Amino acid sequence: MPKNLGGSFYATTPIFYVNDAPHIGHAYTEVAADVLTRWHRQRGENAFLLTGTDEHGEKVLRTAAANKVEPQAWVDQLVHDAWLPMLNTLDVDNQDFIRTTEPRHERNVQRFLQLVHDNGFIYRGEFVGKYCVGCEEYKTEGDLVEGTGEFAGQDVCAIHSKPVENLNETNYFFKLSEFEQPLLDFYAANPNFIQPDSARNEVVSFVRRGLEDLSISRSKEKFDWGVDIPWDDTHITYVWFDALLNYITAIGFGEDDAESREKFEQYWPASVHVVGKDILRFHAVIWPAMLMAAGLELPKQIFGHGWLLVGGEKMSKSKLTGIAPNQITDIFGSDAFRYYFMKAIAFGSDGSFSWEDLTARYTSELANGFGNLASRSLAMIQRYFDGVIPSAGFYNEDDLEIQKIAGDAAVAADAAIEAVAIHEAIAQVWTLVDALNNYITVQEPWVLAKDEAKRDRLATVLYTCAEGLRVLAVLLAPVIPKATGKLWAALASGSLGELADQSLVEVANWGQLPAGSSIGELEPLFPRIEQDEK
Ligand code: MSP
Repeated sequence: MPKNLGGSFYATTPIFYVNDAPHIGHAYTEVAADVLTRWHRQRGENAFLLTGTDEHGEKVLRTAAANKVEPQAWVDQLVHDAWLPMLNTLDVDNQDFIRTTEPRHERNVQRFLQLVHDNGFIYRGEFVGKYCVGCEEYKTEGDLVEGTGEFAGQDVCAIHSKPVENLNETNYFFKLSEFEQPLLDFYAANPNFIQPDSARNEVVSFVRRGLEDLSISRSKEKFDWGVDIPWDDTHITYVWFDALLNYITAIGFGEDDAESREKFEQYWPASVHVVGKDILRFHAVIWPAMLMAAGLELPKQIFGHGWLLVGGEKMSKSKLTGIAPNQITDIFGSDAFRYYFMKAIAFGSDGSFSWEDLTARYTSELANGFGNLASRSLAMIQRYFDGVIPSAGFYNEDDLEIQKIAGDAAVAADAAIEAVAIHEAIAQVWTLVDALNNYITVQEPWVLAKDEAKRDRLATVLYTCAEGLRVLAVLLAPVIPKATGKLWAALASGSLGELADQSLVEVANWGQLPAGSSIGELEPLFPRIEQDEK
């Protein structure tokens, strides 16, 4: 890690239901949270990424039953065979992976419930209403639409297009309604708490319409796959109340030992919960109210990103439109996956995936843009200076312009990450890729090389290219860790040490690569893709 700046950064992804294997919509969230966390780590912060799985609830239980397996065996297998491997497929550098069936989670869900109960925010009452198992959510009439096909004539969930269940049971309720005004006050005092602004506006108007108390338990007579209510073991905890708590149980909430307390102290409140906009209300309304009821600090930000669409609809397994992440990475590699989804879709907006767009960007931006810049620069240092980084002489205006673009790109990209505009950060860094490619075209080092009198100029040009590549390797490491690792190994690891130790804050201070150091062989960064592979 670069020189420690002292700060901590804690990002989370949603924890995913293990009723099925992941698709690229889930992968999208993982990559975004990973890029943000890696960026903060490269800045020198103590950065922690949490992800995991949401394993309780009726949806998972039913899937296990349909597959004729016990729920624990079902989730164990799916986590092992599909969800953990996804992180590897995407090159995600998470510091922890929490499963809601782990004792460290379950016992502290109970402690939290007891605390909120003792604080007077939980009561017993009658629940009469509707529930969608697909959403694991209580529904009002306004959330339903008229069914079609086999469900014609019935009201169905607008998201899952399936009928909802009618519930009538004695449950425990959380006094969510008491937090209406405190939440509105909090949103007003913390305008960046919910981002982007469209998400914020939606949540504020939802809360203004009034909040109802929330049923947070289910009778075990109906189903019993969840965490027992600590004071009444005939009830289990509502899966969302259980799941949201992962963000604090993973970092030691409820535990008494010094290490857990220190960890909680260090990382809570979270810097950002990255979530899809489908689950924004749980995170921006229920979760903060739960924390208020427990007397805990609220996270600094909830960021609701957009959906990957297929045919204009949210990609989803239930609608059979999911694409597995490795269908893409097997052909293009994890770096291309990461780059493509972070660059091509404005973070916060919906976007469509297409093989054509991915192939075109892979070729023009990654292979011909960045990859070719790296390979031809290093090849020229090899050819004209025997693989030794030359010493720069006098910098003319063109060289100084490259230095300025590098400095501006670093500052602008950092600001974009601060605003969680990942696409914008990459676009800023790409100004340097384009500028360097253009610089090489204009300077024509191959022409300079033919004239012994221009040897100094050639040295300055190639030093400028090498330094530009050094800056790019550091700035792009959070997005394309494999390719930048290869570039670093060839360009700088012998002289400057590990890529992970380079400070993003000081990256544009010019002249860090020592002249006289040797470069190594560059492995191909973005190999040509055979068209018939996909
Ligand atoms: N288990 C809950 C979350 C609990 S968090 C305390 C859940 N799980 S889920 O498996 O349904 O995953 C939801 C998340 O997956 C979304 O919020 C989003 O981050 C991601 N995505 C699922 N489909 C997606 C797309 N089509 N596009 C983008 N992201 C998508 O909800």
